[in-house]
Formats: sequence, structure tokens, C-alpha cells
Amino acid sequence: MAAAGSLSFLLFALTIFVFGDGGIWASATNVTYDQRALIIDGKRRILVSGAIHYPRAVPEMWEDLILKAKDGGLDAIETYVFWDRHEPSPGTYNFEGRYDLPKFLKLVQKAGLYVILRIGPYACAEWNFGGFPVWLLDIPGIHFRTNNEPFKRRMQSFVKKVVNLMKEHKLFAPQGGPIILAQIENEYGNIEWSFGAPGKQYMLWAANMARGLDIGVPWIMCQQSDAPEYIINTCNGYYCDGWMPNAANKPKMWTEDWSGWFGSWGEPVPHRPVEDLAFAVARFFERRGSLQNYYMYFGGTNFGRTSGGPYITTSYDYDSPIDEYGQLRQPKWGHLANLHKVLKICEEALVGGDLRYISLGRMQEAHVYSNAERESSLATVLENNLFACVAFLANIDATSSASVTFNGNVYILPPWSVSILPDCKQVVYNTAQVISQSATLRMEASRLQRRDLASNGSLVSYPAKISGALVWEAYKEPVRVWGGKILKTKHLLEQISVTKDTTDYLWYRSSLQVSPEDLLDATPVIEIESMRDVVHIFVNGELAGSTNTKNVGLYAKATQPVNLNAGDNEIDILSVTVGLQNYGAFFETWGAGIRGPVLVRGLATGVRNLTNQLWKHEIGVKGEALKLYTREGAETVTWVPNSLTTSQPLVWYKGQFDAPEGDEPVALDLGGMGKGLVWVNGKSLGRYWPAFRAPQNGCSQKCDYRGPYGPSKCVTGCGQPSQQWYHIPRAWLEPTGNFLVLFEEIGGDISNIQIVTRSTNSVCSYISDAYPPPVSMWLEHINSKETHKKLTTPMLELQCPTGNLITDIKFASYGNPQGACGSFKKGSCHAESTLLVVKQACMGQESCSLTLSWKTFGVNPCPGLSKSLAVEAICRPPASDIFIGDM
Ligand code: GAL
Repeated sequence: MAAAGSLSFLLFALTIFVFGDGGIWASATNVTYDQRALIIDGKRRILVSGAIHYPRAVPEMWEDLILKAKDGGLDAIETYVFWDRHEPSPGTYNFEGRYDLPKFLKLVQKAGLYVILRIGPYACAEWNFGGFPVWLLDIPGIHFRTNNEPFKRRMQSFVKKVVNLMKEHKLFAPQGGPIILAQIENEYGNIEWSFGAPGKQYMLWAANMARGLDIGVPWIMCQQSDAPEYIINTCNGYYCDGWMPNAANKPKMWTEDWSGWFGSWGEPVPHRPVEDLAFAVARFFERRGSLQNYYMYFGGTNFGRTSGGPYITTSYDYDSPIDEYGQLRQPKWGHLANLHKVLKICEEALVGGDLRYISLGRMQEAHVYSNAERESSLATVLENNLFACVAFLANIDATSSASVTFNGNVYILPPWSVSILPDCKQVVYNTAQVISQSATLRMEASRLQRRDLASNGSLVSYPAKISGALVWEAYKEPVRVWGGKILKTKHLLEQISVTKDTTDYLWYRSSLQVSPEDLLDATPVIEIESMRDVVHIFVNGELAGSTNTKNVGLYAKATQPVNLNAGDNEIDILSVTVGLQNYGAFFETWGAGIRGPVLVRGLATGVRNLTNQLWKHEIGVKGEALKLYTREGAETVTWVPNSLTTSQPLVWYKGQFDAPEGDEPVALDLGGMGKGLVWVNGKSLGRYWPAFRAPQNGCSQKCDYRGPYGPSKCVTGCGQPSQQWYHIPRAWLEPTGNFLVLFEEIGGDISNIQIVTRSTNSVCSYISDAYPPPVSMWLEHINSKETHKKLTTPMLELQCPTGNLITDIKFASYGNPQGACGSFKKGSCHAESTLLVVKQACMGQESCSLTLSWKTFGVNPCPGLSKSLAVEAICRPPASDIFIGDM
């Protein structure tokens, strides 16, 4: 008996524990669900997740990003899997470097977070071709994302590959890994109808194929209201509180809560106010939501040619809580972190309590979760901070605040906001009252050191602001045939079928004979009836002009006035893709390049049609073929030092720079450049296009968080380049002699290029006595057993980035200050003593705090009125010995 007993114990232990990576015992996790929530190891859970796409950062950044997400109160990290990069050619796989998915997931596990793995393998994600490998187009008879055997075969093989890899690394929850959910397809429901019956058949095939892979955790499909019963359908959008899953036994989950929006060339930069984002999240959990994922929590960078399109910028910052450079975006990160804390306190009631709806007014409502069996007693609270009664009071009026009565108490609800009462009494969080600190950031020209090519390679240090601190050398890319692979035809070829997307560039080359009679009173114009995305038209080696199709249509017309000579004229058109299509039914059929017809109008003798004459299609540009962006490649041509610095099309530039001191993130300021590609130490930072500016209009001074959000609501940078700065990951830099190369297509001013560092300029805090106390203070208060006393007044907290001290107080006012961080102003009520008091408390400190009370300032500047406190403090590293001059 005893022996049998120990054997069953051993078997029990083996079922619960499995070896994790590196021989660590990891416990097997059981994941199921019911109508209320995911059930993890028998417990229903409220889960907050955030998207971090591993290749949009470098592996050296991963752990820090994950830990910042954890600090922000996240339970899980969500990512797509990027098929095109993992299977660069059929049957050849790459899971290295930025594509080391198992490594990324293990770091998530190490941090104690879960993973939501969106295998797709269609991703969308503003990723090149939606994540599909371009070689799929070469498969005879293929049609994407429909009931098509060749497509399904390749899709299944990749999905299996990923699932097997995850199993090999023991990454699924039942194996002791972090993956608790997996997604098949992506938002297929949005386009399923376009495919008719085969669309539905494909969706069911995909669902069933996924189920057959036996991963031991639930599968999800987003935006798929007809998902079969064994798949959980989920919601994507700016708001998902009014949405419900398609069956009563499925939990309500939100896979994409867009924390901002992506950037596009030629457009201003979108921002989503945190008050609205927090409102959307709170409303979701208020109305029975159980899992919510920020898309994106960290957006990052579309390095290389990974950005989708067309016209997606290299930055994929997304206005997310962690910015493109891996720094906290405040107050977004902090305000959401506070929300997550409160939601966690409420978890038990949210997943277990009965939900009651109470109307509080025309546009005001309460949702109350209460657990009758588990009466909210102080003892329960003290034990584990769990409450048996939780209330959400919402005011969905987008203009006015409202006074409501709930449980006999009166509450003031700001417009478009939700108050959370974890004990159904005390407001601990209001989505519109941002207590969390905010910051102003600056891109500071760094003190550059560089090897001065002009003065025998000695190391010279330059003060930051000297333009031209980088010494440039140039190489002119040939406009005429350069020796690349050429396809000759008597018609125009579709671009992707020719380049296979190995490059953005395809030359369409032809010629035009004109007689002196043709040119009599002529105003010749080359007209391309249908082209995408960009063409640069050269005639006799000179750039006549460029056209892009942004804001016009997928394909559009290019109309280019040109100068022609009597005799033979060389026509060289450089067609450029700016990220392959990533969204839409049938997008694989849309193609790229010049469709024609190509006409010459304005000649005295009538219209000439060039469409069916001889065209030479030359793939790519010479400098790319020679890999001029690598040191070795650069040796293969002769560079011209210190010349060609005036704006000219088709020029390669190279220079060297030493890494800026410190560890702040580094970027390249390309504000004065035209359009092209940029590399550092052989690694592509991505496309740049500062010449394509956002329209002058559409930006407003102030962003009003109230009311439904859309991407054009709160934009900045009107009249500016859509992207001026380009992230250079520190991990890609050597201390000295970094090799910087640009390929400029249309001409730019390289003397303005600067290496900059991104640092916190100042930190700000604003609190008002109408605001709830910080969650932590409230919990302390509850635990203090002195709940009969009035809850302590709000407290203002300031915190510099690690290693920085408060060196100055730029603004401080106790009274009714107005404005936002960086532009605070005194109001009609102001205590003169504020600056002195704040200076005394904060100067020379890394952090400081002040209680919001007249006693702190020794005066009450306007008795009887509600007051607030606003402070802006300058943070700087302690004085360092920055070197300027020769070394
Ligand atoms: C969704 C899609 C995501 C992303 C997002 C916009 O429709 O599922 O992959 O493209 O839109 O950023």
C-alpha cells in the first residue's frame, strides 16, 4: 500500500511539474474558460495584456520592455508571429536574432507573465504583405485566405512548424510554459463575405486545423462572429464594452484595444488621450469584460523593409504606453498602471459576483458586482484586499460632468469617465483624473566624436550643435543601366512579380525619338495612367519629378512635364514600393509598379504611346547590389569626399560617428532629408521620408479626450515631416567609428543630419483636491484599521528617471493652475509660497512628494474653493565632465 501510495504521488508530481527551459521545474498550468473568464488552474482571472512585437525591438531591449510591462500591471504579453521572416524561402526557417521567438517568450515567462500567441499566420499588423512571405505568389494556383488547397497547405505547414517549435521549447501552459491562448487567422470575419461560400469553408478549415494541433490551451479568433463553438471569438477596436461573444459559454475578451494608431508618410502623428483609453478599458471591465489586450503596449520600430503598406512609417510608436525607444510614455503608462492595480483589487468580485445594472441618469449608469456569499467585511479586506462589492459609475456624457447618487452617497462624475469603487463606497480611480506624473522629452543633439576623414583619421570631438559634425562622402548612383538583372519585354511588368520584393526599386527603362517638328511649341508631358506607390521620372539622366499615390488611390496617374531633346531621349523611371499591402481581401492580386499606359502628350505631332515599345526592367539599384551599406561593400566603389552635399537625387552618403555618451536612447535626425533608406553598421534602420510633410491643417492646440476617439482626432506635427527621428538601437552601436550610410532618392540636405539622444527634460505632476487618493494610499488606509478617520488628502509625487536629480523647479503653483506639462500657467488663485516650499522639498532629490493641503504651503490662497497643485521639475544627471575639444 505504502509503495503504491508513493508511486501515485510521483505520478501526480510528474503531471503537475515539467522541466522548463534550463532545467528549471516549471509547473504545468491548466487553462480552460467559462462564460465569465479564462480559468487558470481552477481560478477565474481578470487579465490585462499588452502587445509587444519582438522584431520591432532588438533582443537586447526585450527584457527591459517586458519588465516595464510587468511594472505597468500587465499579466500577459501578446504578439503575432511573422511568417515572412521565419520562413524566408519555402522550408527554410529563421528563428535567430530579432526573430528568436522562443527566446522572447522565455523572457516573458522569466518575468512571470503569460503569453497570448497570435500565430495567424496572417498578421496584418502594418507589416510587409501582412506577414505573408512573397514567395507564396510563385505557387501555381494560389489564392490567399480562402478555401484554396495550395494556400492551405503552406499555411498549415507553417502553423504546425510554430506549434511544434513551441512544444519543443515547452512553451504551452500545460507544459509549464507561458502560452495561455493562441490565435488562428486574424480578423477574417471582416472580409469573409468577400470570398462567398469558400470563405466560410476556409474559416472552418482553419479553426478545425488549429484544434487538431492539440496545444492544450484555448484557441481564439478575433473579429469572427461566426467562429465555431470550440473557438473563442474576440473583439478588436477602440471600444469593446458593448460587444459580446457569439455563445453564452464564452468569456468576453478584447484582443486589440488600440492604444493610439500607426503613422503614415505624409500624415500627422496620431495620439490617443489616456483619459479616453482608460475610459474604454474601465467600461469594458464594467460590462463583464475579462481579458483586455493593448494593441500596442510597445509599438517599436519597423526596421529594414518590414513596414507594411503602403505608406506606413518606420516608426511604429503607436502612442503606446512604452514609447518607440523603450521609455515610459507618461502619464499614459502610469495612469493605466493605476487602473490595473484597481482592477486587480476587484478581481474576485468581477469574475464571481452577480452583475447588476442601475441607471443613474440619462447618460449615467452603475454596474455593481456583488458577491452575496462573501459579504464585504473588513476582515475579508484585510486578509487579501479582495472586495465582495465593486461598483463602476459611468458618465458617458461627452460634454458635462454629472452629480449622481449611488448607495445613498453623492458622486461627481467628470464627463466621459468611469469611477471605480472597489468597496462600493470610496472612489479610488476615475479614468479622467490623471494623478500619474507626466513628462516632457527632448531630442538633444549629442556631443559627437568622429574620425575626421579630412584630417588623417584622428579622433576629434565636436560640440553637439555644429552642423556637419559628420564628414560625408558620396557616391552617385547611376541613372542609366548599371549591370543588374534585366527583363526585356514589349509591355510593362508588374513590379512584385519581377523583384520578388527583394528591393523597393524597379527601373522601367525605355527611349523616345522626337523630331524637331515634334518639339515646335511643345510642352511635353509624360503621363503614366496607372502606377503605385512612387515613381521618379528621369529624362536624359535628369530627374524631371516624382509622384506618389498617397491620398489619391491605390493606383493613380502620374503627370510629369519633361524637357525633351530632338533625337533620342532616354526615359528611366524608378518605381518604388513603400511597404507591401497588408490589408484587404485579395490583396495579393493588387500588385505594384507601373501598369501604364505610358503616354507622351504635348508634342506638336500628337500623343505618343510608349506602353508597347521595348522596356528594360532592371531590378534594384547598384548601391544595394554592391551592399554599399556595409564596410566591405563600400570599398568596391570610389567615394567623393566632402562633395555632393547639395541636394541631388540618387546619391549614397557615408559617414562615421562615435556613440553618444551615456545610455539614453539614440536617434538619427533626418529632418532635412528627402526620401530613402538608412543603415548603421550594416543594419537597416528603415525607410525615411521627411520630405513628405503632413498637411498644414488638422492639428488642434489641445486634445479633448471627451467623446469617441478616432485616429484623426488628436494629431500633432501638421506641416512637419511625418517622421523626423529614426531609432538607432544602442545594441547596434560600437563606442567609436559607427558606419552610417544613406541612400537618398530625391535629394536632401545632409549637413543637417544629427545624432541625438532622447532624454527626459522635465517631469510634471498635477493633482486636485477633487481627485481620489492614490490607490496605494487608500489600501494603506484600509489596512490601518483607522477607517473611521478621514482618508488622507491627495499627495503629489515627482520622480526623475534613475540617476537624475531635480535641478530646478520650472513651475509650481498651489491654487488653480491651468494648462499641461511644459505649459502650466498660474490661475486666479495662487499661493506665493509654492515655489519656495516645492524647491525646499525637491531640489537635489531623485524624487519628492507633497501633501495637497494649505498647511504644506502655510497659506490658504482662496478659502472655500477647491484647489490643485501643479509642479514642473527639471531632471538632469549630476554634473558630469563632458568633454569638448580635441582628444
Ligand atoms: C487590426 C489588425 C491589426 C492592426 C490594426 C491596426 O485590424 O488586426 O493587425 O493592423 O488593425 O493597427
